[in-house]
Amino acid sequence: MDTVTIERLIRISKENPLLPETFVPWANKREDHEKYLPDELVSVHGLSLYDQLTKEQILEIEKHEVVQVMYSYGWSEAMFCLFLNKYILDKSPHDAEFRFILRELIEEFRHQDMFAQAVQLLDGKPIMPSRQHFFWGKFTAKYLPASWAFMSALSVELIADVYGKAMRRDEKVYSVLRKISELHHIEEGRHIHFAKHILERYTKNAGFVKRSWYSIILALNVHYMRTLYVKEEIFVRAGVPNARAVYKEARKNYRNKFAKACLDDAIEFAKEFNGMNWLTRPLWRRLLKANV
Ligand SMILES: [Fe+2]
Ligand SMILES: [Fe+2]
Repeated sequence: MDTVTIERLIRISKENPLLPETFVPWANKREDHEKYLPDELVSVHGLSLYDQLTKEQILEIEKHEVVQVMYSYGWSEAMFCLFLNKYILDKSPHDAEFRFILRELIEEFRHQDMFAQAVQLLDGKPIMPSRQHFFWGKFTAKYLPASWAFMSALSVELIADVYGKAMRRDEKVYSVLRKISELHHIEEGRHIHFAKHILERYTKNAGFVKRSWYSIILALNVHYMRTLYVKEEIFVRAGVPNARAVYKEARKNYRNKFAKACLDDAIEFAKEFNGMNWLTRPLWRRLLKANV
């Protein structure tokens, strides 16, 4: 990507700012026919026990799962902002990359604000990431090299993008969530473009070991994100009998659904930088059930 392209991305960001305050119809109430997630992203959808659940229980499960998704994006974006703030400290305003990152930071802070408002609107009670999640998130943002941090952020953005696309086009999804997804999808498109450009610098002449590492970081981050979405507590809250057993089935089901619906872009990217090889492929298959 050349400077002209980065300047163009900066211009779009400035000329067409999407403000969550006005872009999202916050006052819209959920209509009776509207749901919180597309079926392909609901953990219990597709299981034989799905028909035994009441409409209210299904809605409750969807609601808590979408809260987990939005909370997790906000959380990982906060982590990435921490890194970006550090990354730009020694850059010059003449540098187009510096100015793009400023735009990206502005947008990411707006996204965090938007997700927080959405969680509040849904009266969601996010289940916090584990200590391990916190440790690795902070460790990556604070101490690991830039290439690792950009790779970790991109892995989250690629998954967020799949969710964004699926939610904005499903007319059965609650209008407020669809608009949030639309905004996020548009702006993340630019971030993904830019992150790939930065990462090309590191992957272009990387040897086998480095390329494998990048592929492992990508797979591990996607795995970490996925484990934040489906939680046992959700089934207890929804008043599902045998919550633990249902949770176990739902988690397994979601893993398969996620592999089908969400992994294509991440796999394609890993292939682009030659990150799929005899060493990394087994990890992608084992951890993510990826068809590679
Ligand atoms: Fe974002
Ligand atoms: Fe982003």
